[in-house]
Amino acid sequence: MSDLLAVSPAVPVRLPSPHLVDAAVLDRSLVEALLQSAARMQSIVDGGTTPLRGRILASLFFEASTRTRLSFESAMLRLGGQVISVQDALTSSSATKGESLEDTIRVVAGYADVIVLRHPEIGAADRAARVSSCPVINAGDGAGHHPTQALLDLFTIRAELGRLHSLRVGMSGDLKHGRTVRSLALMLSLFSDVELVFVSAPSLRMDAAILAELQRRRVPVTETIDLRSVAPTLDVLYQTRLQKERLPSPDAAHGLDLPIVNAALMRLLPPHAILMHPLPRVGEIAPEVDADARAAYFRQARNGLLVRMAVLHWLAGGR
Ligand code: ASP
Ligand code: CP
Repeated sequence: MSDLLAVSPAVPVRLPSPHLVDAAVLDRSLVEALLQSAARMQSIVDGGTTPLRGRILASLFFEASTRTRLSFESAMLRLGGQVISVQDALTSSSATKGESLEDTIRVVAGYADVIVLRHPEIGAADRAARVSSCPVINAGDGAGHHPTQALLDLFTIRAELGRLHSLRVGMSGDLKHGRTVRSLALMLSLFSDVELVFVSAPSLRMDAAILAELQRRRVPVTETIDLRSVAPTLDVLYQTRLQKERLPSPDAAHGLDLPIVNAALMRLLPPHAILMHPLPRVGEIAPEVDADARAAYFRQARNGLLVRMAVLHWLAGGR
């Protein structure tokens, strides 16, 4: 290394960085700090300040996305940073030539200050974090985790209901293959007096490891197949779609029809309750519900921008 490089203040020292790979890395105080930071991000959007000027986000998406990729990219641009991006990375990156995920990450970490990764395999973000010299944010790893979705879900619940404690939250749909419900269940368990109600067909039950962890954390959990009977008891109904892309074959979807939230179901939900969905929806919430003030899913998606601004500000070195 030349003397110039060794002493130049223009060459930043890269300290070991934290990563956001699963819900377990976030303790209650960090979650609170991120939610408070997210609440302040609208002023950056309005005021046009640029705390991440000069920083670069690499977004690597090996699986389809609308909200997560575009809200992360918008968040970086709103913060004054820049974005390099590979969409459809399974077919348009050198993965098609057989390059490993680890090698791709080692290289991209040299071009960017933070990497956002979505990948169809459970554990991909963890593998990436182990070899990356810059922070890695998990934007969804197969049926594993989606921690920034859980953060924006918490932000939404607090914005809509004013609290994150003393809640009865129903999660309905494909709990076996859905990653948002896994991350959200663990993150809600950080708050006091939260009860979870898992509504699914027996073949789409919540993963046993998550149930065991919730039991270890002493979170009261009810499992049922009957959405109508529990709807009147809920503060939040979190509906999800069947994750068809994670079924062993297209035929496996046969007979796995999820309960549909329609106007009749909304009549069973208390007046103060909210209906959430990570989106995309594909029929499990009827469009007639959109006009109901309790339908929070588009506000929820919008909150993703503010929450991802806060996450980038934290991990990409906001000044
Ligand atoms: N968009 C969310 C995810 O990527 C939920 C879904 O796709 O159903 O996990
Ligand atoms: N909620 C969510 O992760 O949406 P996308 O899959 O469109 O990114």
